[in-house]
Amino acid sequence: MRTKIVGTGSYVPEHIATNDDLAKIVDTSDEWIRTRTGICERRISEGIGTSKMASRASRNALENAKIKAEEIQLILLATSTPDHHFPSGACEVQADIGAIHAAAYDISAACSGFLFALNTAHSFIQSGCYETILVIGVDCMSKVVDWSDRGTCVLFGDGAGAVVMKGETGTEADTNASGLLHMIMGSDGTKGSVLSCEARTVGNFLTGTKPNFGTVAMDGQEVFKFAVKKMPEIIEQLMRESELTIEEVRYFVLHQANYRISESIAKRLKVSMEQIPMNIDRYGNTSAGSVPILLDELNRQGRLKEGDLLALAGFGAGLTWGAALVRW
Ligand code: COA
Repeated sequence: MRTKIVGTGSYVPEHIATNDDLAKIVDTSDEWIRTRTGICERRISEGIGTSKMASRASRNALENAKIKAEEIQLILLATSTPDHHFPSGACEVQADIGAIHAAAYDISAACSGFLFALNTAHSFIQSGCYETILVIGVDCMSKVVDWSDRGTCVLFGDGAGAVVMKGETGTEADTNASGLLHMIMGSDGTKGSVLSCEARTVGNFLTGTKPNFGTVAMDGQEVFKFAVKKMPEIIEQLMRESELTIEEVRYFVLHQANYRISESIAKRLKVSMEQIPMNIDRYGNTSAGSVPILLDELNRQGRLKEGDLLALAGFGAGLTWGAALVRW
């Protein structure tokens, strides 16, 4: 079986928070944020939670794919910021869009989440379990960011992206036919403390202390060093194992964490920034949402032509990393 992406969709909240807006609440400046990260503004959800953002992106993807919700057999939703511990965000999306025949569950791999979900969907299709799968990457980081920590709060934004994947007869080995050609996933749990967010601190039963929610804690420089080393490594591995070359790739659709990280990846791979589309200036780091939002933008702008080779890659807390090579 071959796995094709047959539709894309995305949703970002309407409310824009500019760097100047953040400079009113923490000791920072538009100049610092722009030059260190490439971010100019981000979207912040006001009342629309993770699952609703995901549903809106999903509806757009289904419309784009010309597929009805009832045809979906599996919903995989990647997020680190679900609205509830249970039910899962995927089940909430299922109910919202009316995907009555689907099984649905969430996947947690932070900013790599969408790539992990994409690769999981690919494996289900390859194994013959399912033919039509909705894959969502969504995060509402504004819920878990410490708005008094200038080191992290300026980086993140809210948003959702989704793709519809379909199995078609054919073989993965035919690298000229459209579909997902190869994938990579990896994790290093020993580096968990570099980027973390506690779900709930333990409450004390005896003293009656209530549990609290944690916020994002990060060693920015460690994450930066990890990303600029790991991203080129996995893209090179992806190409090597597919027996294709970097020169054949049209676009590198990368996780939007920091403009300087993407520049460094471009330099290491010896490709121009024209091949590394960016939208971090408008959305910041939307975590699991970033790769599918960017993919949807490229698709809707008509920049993806049939036969184009796309290298998708991301990294995040865990630490985790993932990549997928797609023939459009
Ligand atoms: N505004 C103004 N100053 C800030 C600031 C802000 N928003 N955030 C940090 N600073 C200060 C620091 O306190 C430090 O001051 P000091 O020298 O007086 O101690 C100074 O700026 C430099 O900080 P540093 O951490 O060295 O900056 P940097 O160039 O490494 O950039 C990041 C910081 C966070 C932008 C960068 O490390 C990064 O992007 N890392 C990757 C993070 C990431 O992508 N996380 C998500 C992964 S999925």
